[in-house]
Parts: sequence; C-alpha cells; structure tokens
Amino acid sequence: MANKKIFAFSIRKDEEPYVKEWDEQHPEVDVEYTDELLTPETAAKAKGADGVVVYQQLDYKAETLQALADMGITKMSLRNVGVDNIDMDKAKELGFEITNVPVYSPNAIAEHAAIQTARILRQTKALDEKIDKGDLRWAPTIGREVRDQVVGVVGTGHIGRVYMQIMEGFGAKVIAYDKFENPELKKQGYYVDSIDDLYKQADVISLHVPAVPENVNMINDDTIAEMKDDAVIVNCSRGALVDTDAVVKALDSGKLFGFVMDTYEDEVGVFNEDWRDKKFPDDRLWDLMHRSNVLVTPHTAFYTTHAVRNMVIKAFDNNNEMIDGKEPETPVKVG
Ligand SMILES: NC(=O)c1ccc[n+]([C@@H]2O[C@H](COP(=O)([O-])OP(=O)(O)OC[C@H]3O[C@@H](n4cnc5c(N)ncnc54)[C@H](O)[C@@H]3O)[C@@H](O)[C@H]2O)c1
Repeated sequence: MANKKIFAFSIRKDEEPYVKEWDEQHPEVDVEYTDELLTPETAAKAKGADGVVVYQQLDYKAETLQALADMGITKMSLRNVGVDNIDMDKAKELGFEITNVPVYSPNAIAEHAAIQTARILRQTKALDEKIDKGDLRWAPTIGREVRDQVVGVVGTGHIGRVYMQIMEGFGAKVIAYDKFENPELKKQGYYVDSIDDLYKQADVISLHVPAVPENVNMINDDTIAEMKDDAVIVNCSRGALVDTDAVVKALDSGKLFGFVMDTYEDEVGVFNEDWRDKKFPDDRLWDLMHRSNVLVTPHTAFYTTHAVRNMVIKAFDNNNEMIDGKEPETPVKVG
C-alpha cells in the first residue's frame, strides 16, 4: 500500500517508461504525472503529493512556488542540472528543499563530441551532400585520420575525461588544459602550461568547461588567430563560450577546417522547435546549418536513452529521500 505520493510535471513520451519503471520498483509510493508544465494554474494537479519532480525552461516563479507551498508541497526535484530559472528568494522564504541531477551520463555528451569530431575530419557531410546529388567522385573530399591529430581538451571534468579516452582510442595525441588540474591526469602528463599553449599545439580543440563569466567568448578573433591553420573547434558545452561571428569569419577565410556546434549562444527558443512551416528566425544559424564543414545539432548531445533514464530515476530517488527526511544525494543550495 502506498503511503507517500510524488507528482511529476512535464513528463515527455520518452521519459514515461522510466517513470513507470521507478513506480513499479516503489510500491510504497503513489506516482502520478502529467505532460503539462508546472505553472500557478497546473500546480493544483499535485494536490495531496508529498513532493514534485519537474523539468522545464519556463520560470519557477514566486506564484508557482506559492501555489505548491499552499498545498503543503515544498520538496521539488529537478530532472536536469540548471537552477537559474527558480525564484530562489521565494523558495527560501517558503522553506523549499530542492535537488537536481548534476551528472546523468557524461558518455552521452563525450560520445557525441567524439563522433562529430571524427565526422568533421572525414568530411562526411560534404561527401553525403555529393552522394545525394549523384556525384560519387573521391576528390577533393579527402579525410584526416584521428590518430594524426593533436586533440586539445579544454576542461577535464566528467565529460572532458570521457572524451579524452575516446579520442585516445582512435589513436589521437591528447593534450589538456584545466583551471583546476586533476591530479591523476597531471601525473600522466596530459596538461599543457596554459590555454594559449593548447590553442597553439592542437589540431582539434574541444570545449568542456562551464560558461562562467571568465569563459564567455573564450573562442574569439584573438584566440582563433593563435590556432594552427586548418584547426577544428568542437563546442558541445555552452554556446556562450564561442563568439560565433569570429568563427564565421575564420570559416570564411579558410583558417578553420571545420566547426562542430551542439550549443549556440542564441539557441533558446530556436532549438527543439519545428521550423519546417515557419520562417526561420536566425539567418546566421541557418547559414551555419548549411555549410559543408559545420555540423549543427540542436543541443542533443545529452539526449540518449541512458541519460534520460538517469535523469528520471535520480530525480525520483532524490525526491523520495527528501520525503523520508533523509539527506538527498544531490541537494541544491536554496537562497
Ligand atoms: N551539450 C549538452 O547536451 C550538454 C549536456 C551536459 C553538460 N554540458 C556542458 O558540458 C560542460 C562540462 O560538463 P561536465 O559535467 O564535464 O562539468 P564538470 O564540472 O565535471 O567539468 C568542468 C571542468 O571545467 C573546469 N573549468 C575550467 N574553467 C573553469 C572555470 N573558470 N570555472 C570553473 N571550472 C572551470 C573545471 O575545473 C572542471 O574540471 C558544462 O559546461 C555543461 O554545461 C553540455
């Protein structure tokens, strides 16, 4: 018999199997959910629940939090990392306890970055475009082997480290830079002395750092000028790390061999939308999407069955722990 209840908002079709899996494994918890976002109006759906599980771009504003608190619900578990859309002052005032899922599958993002790196080097997009038109000639679409590249990894956290392993599996020489060096990697001799050294030595530069203010536009006219001719830049991290206009200039001049972007500085409201029957809102992005040496994906590096399952299961685990009065695995500082 269930003696607790968790209500989940904005559950997508691809998350539903994992919600059901968690529900089956927890007969003591009554699990209910909706595909609707959490708003001041929809909050009432959670009436009678001990906690809520959520994931949305939409703000968790004061009225929304108040609506939950009015029903006695102050335990909220995010299925994602980011907490900047929560009114933290209000959450603190109402005594909210909040959790997130900071690490759900580093491999999902690292693998995507590695696949796109290999595709750029082998010019697969240009070849696919030729084949599509019936042009089956080899030249000039010649590939570069990964093992011939120096791959520079900026940020050796959870994702950067997996990317390093995959690139080494291909036989690349891997070098790295991190503001906070990992002692194991340091012992193994991966780190160069400065980020400028990395820019100068690497054929492929892959970014795996957060977009904290000091990292915003770290890829710009000046840093691109330091890079080798025919360098490749891979950004599966955060759009704000890259000055997109600088990259466009370097693609036009032929300085860069290619560019991988899973994230884009103006992606909010554009990615994860269907533009087929609507006017596309961003000319610069449209241009990049149609270049043979640019691989655009709409922030889908994380989007795997493994990652989505972890986001759901870990969020429900966190919420259940809070309901039981235990310390959840990944609490968020409120206030
Ligand atoms: N494309 C996607 O779908 C997707 C999904 C998840 C995460 N990401 C992005 O990938 C990036 C890396 O994620 P992670 O899980 O490996 O993070 P992490 O925290 O494990 O690693 C980040 C690394 O960056 C380093 N770093 C460099 N400069 C820093 C600075 N100025 N301040 C703080 N740390 C600095 C840290 O020392 C750390 O080693 C994040 O920016 C995240 O936003 C992208």
